[in-house]
Amino acid sequence: MKILLPVAFFTALLFTFSSDASDLLRGRTVYERNCATCHGGYGKGDGPRAETFNPKPVDFTDSAVMATISPERFERAIVLGLPHVAEHRFGHLLMPEEVRDVTAYVRSLVR
Ligand code: HEC
Repeated sequence: MKILLPVAFFTALLFTFSSDASDLLRGRTVYERNCATCHGGYGKGDGPRAETFNPKPVDFTDSAVMATISPERFERAIVLGLPHVAEHRFGHLLMPEEVRDVTAYVRSLVR
């Protein structure tokens, strides 16, 4: 029993943080439909609408920037929105799985 508990814990942890290819593919579809107009097709923060914002949409490929955004903060920004970006609230548009998948996809863009 003593040994089982840590094993179960780490299995759960692995399950939570691993994402397989289908998650990423679904995440990419969600991204292209909802995020690319601002964050850009490749996540560099250079979508067609990016210029209208100050501060600019985050460059998801920038590892220094992404290191400052925890997974919790990331999901909060999508679900609850951001104070000065009116259309950033996707909680009513995306299913929880879609939020998780798009988070996994965007995190896979970091260089
Ligand atoms: C209407 C334009 C627009 C759309 C659409 C958009 N974003 Fe953003 N996003 C921004 C802007 C602008 C910022 C930077 C705001 C700031 O720095 O305060 C930002 C910042 C973020 C951040 C960083 C938040 C933080 O706490 O620093 C995340 C994460 C993010 N966007 C994810 C997404 C995802 C995922 C989608 C699609 C589901 C999306 N965004 C769609 C404009 C957009």
